Amino acid sequence: MAARTSPVPLGRANALAVAPAQDKASHGWLGRHLLAASDLCPAQMQRLFSAADTHLQAFAERRPARHVLAGRTVLTVFFEPSTRTRVSFELAAKRLGADVAHIAQAGSSMAKGETLQDTARTLDAMGADIIVVRHPQAGAAADIARVTGGHVVNAGDGSHAHPTQALLDAYTLQRRFQSLQNLRVAIVGDIAHSRVVRSNLVVLKALGADVVVTGPRSLVPADVAARFGCTVVRTLKEALDSAQVVMALRLQHERMTTAAAMQPHVFAEHFGITAERLSWARPDVVVMHPGPVNRGVELTSDVMDGAQSLVWAQIKHGVAVRAAILQAMVQGPEGLSGVQ
Ligand code: CP
Repeated sequence: MAARTSPVPLGRANALAVAPAQDKASHGWLGRHLLAASDLCPAQMQRLFSAADTHLQAFAERRPARHVLAGRTVLTVFFEPSTRTRVSFELAAKRLGADVAHIAQAGSSMAKGETLQDTARTLDAMGADIIVVRHPQAGAAADIARVTGGHVVNAGDGSHAHPTQALLDAYTLQRRFQSLQNLRVAIVGDIAHSRVVRSNLVVLKALGADVVVTGPRSLVPADVAARFGCTVVRTLKEALDSAQVVMALRLQHERMTTAAAMQPHVFAEHFGITAERLSWARPDVVVMHPGPVNRGVELTSDVMDGAQSLVWAQIKHGVAVRAAILQAMVQGPEGLSGVQ
């Protein structure tokens, strides 16, 4: 069973999110680590998106730039379940020519009592250039970054941050709408426990989107509007009014306390996205979900598989965006522009 952790108050999450990445080794223009969305300015996001365009095209034509990470070692260290994030990082790293290995808690020496920091030092001693880490504890990626000589990418730490998900979401929206400036985005669901929403609120705001959030009262922190500059509304109908984008979030049962527990059928009754409810939004509204989706809870199957769904595009774009991130960790701007 997945470890239960207390939800991280938004204040702490935000404080962690604004801490700049340490800068103590030679690195590319992205910074030494990517721990939170706020490590990036809008110009850096746009450069990543340009690089992702190049990788997306190259992957489609089956001619990936294998020289980019040749001779580099990328380790994916996942102490929570993952399909999309782990596989897309591994595919991206392999397509760019890296040596790639995966470590899970169950099969590692952490199961025998080794600390996270000592595990990180061990991987560092083996020559890991980039460690991609997912962990149930907020701040775990930053803890690893403090003890390693290489680069660390946060692939999700508790309820704190999931910056690469937010970047691939914004990239997907930019490809659809050309710009996120004044784009009306409705985020629906479990705001309290979602690292995806914390990172998305930072990225969407940085790129000029107009964000409204809604969800059950017990799952929307009181201070979210003040901390992230979004609008909070009580009902799905209000949130969808004029929305161009609906981003649905999974109920994070693994992080819920009893007080915040929410029955899936109750959530679906009030906040589930159905084809009928989509008519409350603009006619050309698109639907997103970071996954994994609980069909019939956050999205009905016809919405998830329908023409307005960007769910599968998000997954496809994740490989290209993560390739751009890995590349930017180790190369300067010349490297990014040098991939054809
Ligand atoms: N969106 C996301 O992080 O999915 P995974 O848990 O499958 O990586």
